[in-house]
Amino acid sequence: MTKQRAFSGIQPSGVIHLGNYLGAILPWVRIQNKYESIFCVVDLHAITIPQDPKELTESTYLTTAIYLASGIDPKKSIIFVQSQVPAHAELAWLLNTIAHMGELSRMTQFKDKSQKGNAENTSVGLFDYPVLMASDILLYQAGIVPVGEDQKQHVELARNLAERFNNRFGKTFIIPNPVIGKTGARIMSLDNPSRKMSKSDSAGSYIALTDSPEIIRKKIMRAVTDSGSTIKFDPKREGLFNLLTIYQMLSGKTESQIEKHFAGKGYGDFKKELAELVVTSLAPIQKKIDYYMKNRRLLDRILKTGATKASRIANSTLTEAKKKIGFVS
Ligand code: TRP
Repeated sequence: MTKQRAFSGIQPSGVIHLGNYLGAILPWVRIQNKYESIFCVVDLHAITIPQDPKELTESTYLTTAIYLASGIDPKKSIIFVQSQVPAHAELAWLLNTIAHMGELSRMTQFKDKSQKGNAENTSVGLFDYPVLMASDILLYQAGIVPVGEDQKQHVELARNLAERFNNRFGKTFIIPNPVIGKTGARIMSLDNPSRKMSKSDSAGSYIALTDSPEIIRKKIMRAVTDSGSTIKFDPKREGLFNLLTIYQMLSGKTESQIEKHFAGKGYGDFKKELAELVVTSLAPIQKKIDYYMKNRRLLDRILKTGATKASRIANSTLTEAKKKIGFVS
């Protein structure tokens, strides 16, 4: 292998918000120039909680359109949908047989998600989610896994499963490393800045990439801040700090440039300027999202090409793993 491989994915579940864009998709655009990159729309993960079939289809196209509109280039990177490459489910089964109930029970995301609903009615798929994610990563021999802080534990599990498999059957998988972005890896909720921006919270808490300018302005003007008056990067003033982080990421300016710019101005002025920055930054992306969403045939074609390229790599790893286990071929 010449260049190291990077693999990451996002679930096609309804809303892609500014936190996903700044924390995940934007860093991927840079990563694709450095690594042989593979970006997946993880629909098999999405169905671990109930999905409406029509909405799932729409969300899958929308997520693909957002990848493309944000600058992920299918000439540089592989873009594909997980369910179109059967090897993901197949390797997940093989890994299930070496994964332990105990280690999966300790996954914090599972504990959170299963407690929200009734644990008794939680799907086995949700419990097994991290093993499927390990399969995603290991199939492509990805050394680099760009994820948010909340996914670090899952990548850790993928490392453990890779090592366990390699020890038992001989070297088969590359041990992956999580790569956690610094700023923006955690864009927080607009109405509760101690929590991560999340599509499962109220609509006022996040800015969807598809929100109209009016909605974006309204949400930012309503964002929770403290009762201070100066515009300063102070992590203790969570709400303001979060808005300033968004401003910084979209403007590309330094902290001191921004603080100087807003010296003597109040929260209202700052929020107005931030709202316009978000609106103008998202406008060209929204235009491209519209273009792709109106060209499903083009999306289908890009995804098909992606699935073909992904399958080639995935099948070669899967064949090797099956051979190591002792399956007859
Ligand atoms: N679980 C990840 C998330 O919710 C999505 C994901 C699935 C993923 N498979 C992956 C991320 C493989 C990185 C690598 O954010």
